[in-house]
Amino acid sequence: MSPAHRPRRVLVTGASRGIGLEFVRQLLARGDHVIATARHPGRAQALNHLAGEHPGRLHVLPLDVADPKSHAELVRELPLVLDGDGARLNLLINNAGVLHSGERFGHVPLAQMDDSLRTNVTGPFLLTQTLAEHLADGAVVANLSSILGSIARVDGFHTPSYAISKAAQNMATVLLAQGLSERGIVVLALHPGWVQTDMGGDGAQIAAEQSVAGLLKVIGNATQADSGHYIDWQGAPLPW
Ligand SMILES: NC(=O)c1ccc[n+]([C@@H]2O[C@H](COP(=O)([O-])OP(=O)(O)OC[C@H]3O[C@@H](n4cnc5c(N)ncnc54)[C@H](OP(=O)(O)O)[C@@H]3O)[C@@H](O)[C@H]2O)c1
Repeated sequence: MSPAHRPRRVLVTGASRGIGLEFVRQLLARGDHVIATARHPGRAQALNHLAGEHPGRLHVLPLDVADPKSHAELVRELPLVLDGDGARLNLLINNAGVLHSGERFGHVPLAQMDDSLRTNVTGPFLLTQTLAEHLADGAVVANLSSILGSIARVDGFHTPSYAISKAAQNMATVLLAQGLSERGIVVLALHPGWVQTDMGGDGAQIAAEQSVAGLLKVIGNATQADSGHYIDWQGAPLPW
């Protein structure tokens, strides 16, 4: 832990693998108290291994972001894992996401649109709304967006369910920034780069370690003036 770092309480969604798991690793390494959520904690081996290495500092809880009932169950369990009465979260990382690949014009199925919207838009929006009372004043909400959600950057009929959902998630970020501004809570739409994960594939440009290190720097430097902004892992602004 760096001497300048004050430990924070952080909740990460979709922490079973990929960027979410790497967030958990780096947050623990800097001394934070982490609540890592996964759809199926019993199957999240790497996460459970980390929990064994960091007793008391990493709690693994079940959460399906696409299911509001699961949000309510998480809220019921939260006081049991937040250290101290009335303790609140300093950082919420809405990382869980889904990309249905191979969609072609004329053949986009309702089920994939529906799943993408529930997981990538309504999930993080409703979860943030539900967790709002558990966020500390001045907290940060980091929504993992994507450059594929940029309407300005569209150059073909690519990954429509995903692109539509991430564009809508960007609107959710802007609205949440407005809704939480009175409490000094900063809400960001963050593009992590093209990252080597199950979603990004082996041919992606950067490793999860590099992306998350950059994202944590961006989050750490964010002020109220950045709230509602769309930025990449290196801090560069992106066109909506
Ligand atoms: N990789 C990239 O190049 C890239 C680029 C731009 C944006 N992003 C964004 O970055 C975030 C993380 O991506 P990634 O590359 O780490 O993806 P990934 O390797 O496919 O991992 C996705 C994670 O989200 C979880 N998840 C999916 N649906 C969920 C649900 N309904 N409830 C809870 N968890 C759920 C998965 O859990 P299970 O293990 O249970 O499936 C998994 O932990 C996503 O929001 C993605 O859109 C990634």
